[in-house]
Parts: sequence; structure tokens; C-alpha cells
Amino acid sequence: MDVGIVGLRQLESMPKRIFSGVKPTGPLHLGNYLGALRNWVELQRQYESFFCIVNLHAITIPVDPDYLSALTLEIARLYVAAGIDPEISTIFIQSDVPEHAELAWILNCSTRMSELERMTQYKEQARKQRESIGAGLFEYPVLMAADILLYQTNLVPVGEDQKQHLELTRDLAIRFNRDYGETFQVPEPYIPKVGARIMSLSDPLKKMSKSDDDPNGCVMLLDDADTVRRKFKRAVTDSGTQIKFDDSRPAITNLLTIYQLLTGKAPADVEAHFTGKGYTQLKQDLAEVTIEFLRPLQERVRGISADDLRGILEHGRNKAQGIARATLAQVMTRRGVVGASGSN
Ligand code: AMP
Ligand code: TRP
Repeated sequence: MDVGIVGLRQLESMPKRIFSGVKPTGPLHLGNYLGALRNWVELQRQYESFFCIVNLHAITIPVDPDYLSALTLEIARLYVAAGIDPEISTIFIQSDVPEHAELAWILNCSTRMSELERMTQYKEQARKQRESIGAGLFEYPVLMAADILLYQTNLVPVGEDQKQHLELTRDLAIRFNRDYGETFQVPEPYIPKVGARIMSLSDPLKKMSKSDDDPNGCVMLLDDADTVRRKFKRAVTDSGTQIKFDDSRPAITNLLTIYQLLTGKAPADVEAHFTGKGYTQLKQDLAEVTIEFLRPLQERVRGISADDLRGILEHGRNKAQGIARATLAQVMTRRGVVGASGSN
């Protein structure tokens, strides 16, 4: 019997695998850290971990090439500075492993147009761009599925916004396994209970995003102290004066959530800390907590040399590619895609 990669990965003794990625379309912000990186740092001790900078996803919208290449490396640096340990986790750049684009093509061939038309992230982006929507933007979730499935991933830690893409990834894996034989591990999303959706400081009904129209809504991980203070000072608040977690008061709840996650305090202790205090104090305290959190992170970013980074990324590529090649070879065999030598 053909013992597929899936079969091997299901052996009890093997640690489960996680895969996640950030696309380099703008500098990383607090939402990325609190919704994604922070959890990755925790999870890397329990799972075999792959963290990718998904630069092929970034070119689905127009981007300056010099900006993209510099940002790709900046994000790799931030992964390490945020606490992803290259000794135990695999950190790599998507385009360094061409198997991602190859598997995306094959998965494309069993993806329905209607499935991609339903993707809310695509619909939102398409609405913003209107003029010339690239086919790449439409295909985006298929490339994401390839990223995940190449590594026989068990769990994918992401923010709430990626849930729909994960469902499509699962559907594609299940369909391929059904039609061509067990090939892919079917992954599960791993969405944090708190922090999955950090909201914009200028509009608490929109998620904090690097493409926010108002730059004050988004605190970047590389912002200096004055910028952080200014952004929190301008943060929108709700009417009233109470400082409590309350879904009907999204602005204050968002500020409290950020405070809670950065200090590690329990929600009740956070509320107790602010009893009798006003919104100005909340914003000031939050700015100082953020600055204290960012300071060491930014120091670590500066401490990683270009050579160190190159070494980490080369090591990551080699490790990732070994696994990606094995999965892709199996996929091609299963689909009968063979070359002149009779192998793929
Ligand atoms: P992106 O910046 O869209 O490439 O997202 C990278 C990772 O950060 C993904 O796991 C997202 O779900 C997560 N993320 C992005 N924005 C937020 C946010 N405002 N709150 C929580 N998580 C976020
Ligand atoms: N689509 C994700 C986002 O916008 C980025 C991403 C691409 C990703 N490939 C992935 C996340 C694979 C997790 C796993 O945030």
C-alpha cells in the first residue's frame, strides 16, 4: 500500500504542524502582532512551525518593487524580533520555494470560479480597485491554500478575517483527497479568543489595517514613541465616561483589549485599574504601555544584521523546500503530470 505523506504525518509520535504567513503590503502593526505574531510565538513551542513572508500574495495588487523587496526583509526581521526563534521554527520567504506557485496552479484546476467569487476579502479589494482587478487577486485564496497544504499543516493560526480562506483551503484538500487519493492533511483554523480582531483607532467598526485610509488608526510596530502617543491621543472614543469592556461601546472595548493583551492582565484587573479614571488617562496609559512593549522589540530589530537574516532565511528555505518538494511530487503523480523521464 502507498503510505502517503498524510499517512506519515498522522503517526502519533509526530508533532503537529502549524503554518502561517503575513503578506508584505505594508509595515506590520499592532493588529498583526496581537492577532497573529503573539500567538505564533506561543505556539512554536508546542508545534513544528513554519512562518512565511508571502511576497507572491503581495503582488496581487500594484506595488513598487524596491518597496516590496525591502519590506519582505523587514517583516522577516520583525518575525525574529517579535520572538519567533529561528532555531526551532522555520522562517522563509514564499518566492524562495517555487513549489508554492506550482501547487497553486494545480489546485486552481480543481477550484470553481463560484467559490472564489464568494470570498469577501476579494470582493472588498475588488470594490476598492474597480478599474483593473488582476486575475491574481481573484486567485489569491488558491495560492494561500497551496501555502498551507504543501506542508501537510494541521493548524493555521490567523486572525478572524482569514476564516473564509481557511474554509476554502479545507474544501480544496478534501476534494483533492476524494478525487485523487489521500494526499493532503486537512488543516484547521486556529483563531485566538482575544485579539482576533483589533480595530482601527480612528474607526472602531473597521479592523486595524495597513491599508487604512487614516494613518492614525493604525499603530505600526516600528512607530517611534511620539507617533504612538499622537495616535492614541487622537483615538476615537465612545460617548459616556465608563471604562469597561462592553460590546455596545466598541472604541473603549478595543482600547481595553489592546491594554489587556499588552499587559497580560485579566479583564477585571484592567477595568479595576481604570476605575475612577477618564478617557484621557486611558489613552495616556495605553500609549505608555505600547511604547514600553515596542522599545525592546525595536532594539532587537536593529540588532539583527543583514548576514544573520540571510542565514536564517536560507536555512528556512532549505527546510521548507524539502517538505514542499515531497508533497508536490506526490500531487503531480496523483494527477498524472509526468515529464519526458516518466517522473515529475
Ligand atoms: P495581513 O496584515 O492582512 O497580511 O495579516 C497578517 C496576519 O495578521 C493575519 O493572520 C491576520 O488575520 C492578522 N491580522 C491582520 N489585521 C489584524 C487585526 N486588525 N486584528 C487582528 N489580527 C489581524
Ligand atoms: N491571506 C493571509 C492574510 O491576508 C496571508 C496568508 C497567505 C496566509 N498565505 C497564508 C496566512 C497561509 C496563513 C497561512 O493575512
